Amino acid sequence: MAVPELHILRGNPDFLDLPWDAPILDWRDPHLVEMPTGIHRHPVEFVAYPEGIYAIKELPVRLARHEFKSLSKLAKRTTRSAKPAGLVIRPWANPHEEYSGAIITRFVDYAFPYRELVSGGGFGSRRTQLLDAFAGLLVELHLAGCFWGDCSLSNVLYRYDAATIEAVMVDAETSRLYDELSDGQRLEDLEIMQVNLAGDMSDVAASEGLDVDDADLELGFDISDRYATLWHELTTDLVIAQDERYLIGERFARLNDLGFAIDDVDVIPDGASKRIRISASVGGRTFHSQRLRERTGIDAAENQARQILSDIRYHRAKHGESGPSTSATGKTVSAMHWRLNRFEPFTTRIAELRPDIDPIQGFCDYLNFRFALASEQGRDVDSTVAFEEWIAVGMPGFDPGATSPEADSPR
Ligand SMILES: Nc1ncnc2c1ncn2[C@@H]1O[C@H](COP(=O)(O)OP(=O)(O)OP(=O)(O)O)[C@@H](O)[C@H]1O
Ligand SMILES: [Mg+2]
Repeated sequence: MAVPELHILRGNPDFLDLPWDAPILDWRDPHLVEMPTGIHRHPVEFVAYPEGIYAIKELPVRLARHEFKSLSKLAKRTTRSAKPAGLVIRPWANPHEEYSGAIITRFVDYAFPYRELVSGGGFGSRRTQLLDAFAGLLVELHLAGCFWGDCSLSNVLYRYDAATIEAVMVDAETSRLYDELSDGQRLEDLEIMQVNLAGDMSDVAASEGLDVDDADLELGFDISDRYATLWHELTTDLVIAQDERYLIGERFARLNDLGFAIDDVDVIPDGASKRIRISASVGGRTFHSQRLRERTGIDAAENQARQILSDIRYHRAKHGESGPSTSATGKTVSAMHWRLNRFEPFTTRIAELRPDIDPIQGFCDYLNFRFALASEQGRDVDSTVAFEEWIAVGMPGFDPGATSPEADSPR
């Protein structure tokens, strides 16, 4: 069997046991698994290894190299893009043929294509979640210096993140990376997104048997509006008088509340006015997920982490009376107690009952259910009792049509 050139990133299988001498669509290999995808031009297949599931996309060598390079660089700057695993080149093939190159990316766990969110010719009660997901994704990519050039419904994967939806970029074929994007580049990227989404929403409407006039053609424009508000919040300097330093704390708390971690802060005298200009450079939207990881070792999405941290605080308030619960040691002990007595047994049970769902999202669904139950009864409900009841009623997820204070999307 012909052996291709393989460039594999650490932590992944060598993929040498795959039948590379044939195009991927002709494979009859035991590693192949079927997974749902969005609409795409290039051949895509999925393979399962003990290390995880991987997506393989075939495309001409030049494009494969470019996409692999872009995704590798992006992975160092943001958590919102698919993680590359390998680049494959078949030197015996014409490099302009689709079959000549391939890129391998790590399957995005528990993610699904947009079709799963469609209802009634559009996104129905999930529309607001979609707006936030796209605006957040584009802001994060732009902050990371990435001009995408092809943001569309199919080039994004979706994952439940507590009461919100997290969007992940999967197709970086057209992307270009810079140190920083100009306003013109950002606007161009938004315009491309608007055009793509108008086309996508016409397709969605048509597939549901609706007229184009009934398609949600405003979606892309509404995303741009939300993007503009978020971008402004994150990138506008704060100018204060010298005795208004409390405003700095307020500003940082708001940025953290939006989930953004703050990397650096510059304090600059504002000309001759005796005022101070505070310029914060924000990192990715990982503030709560980083804190949860540091405190418990648990890896969760940003809003899942926010909700879980609030459960740890609730647990500490309920069970931490006996120890020094506000000291660092007390907090660590109580987080460990929470993990062993609540998080681990509950998520293990969720994984046994529903191996198809993300157990951490299941845990957040349960927290939401417990909160609704307590509100209904006007008193605290026992966590285990609430958990059993949640299972008994079929483990319901978040209902985006209903509003709940626990579903505290910051936007
Ligand atoms: N790492 C991944 N994890 C999960 N699904 C993936 C992954 N990579 C690709 N996919 C799925 O495969 C589909 C096609 O991938 P991609 O968009 O990269 O292909 P494409 O042919 O380049 O698309 P386009 O027609 O936009 O150029 C995606 O819509 C997505 O559903
Ligand atoms: Mg695509």
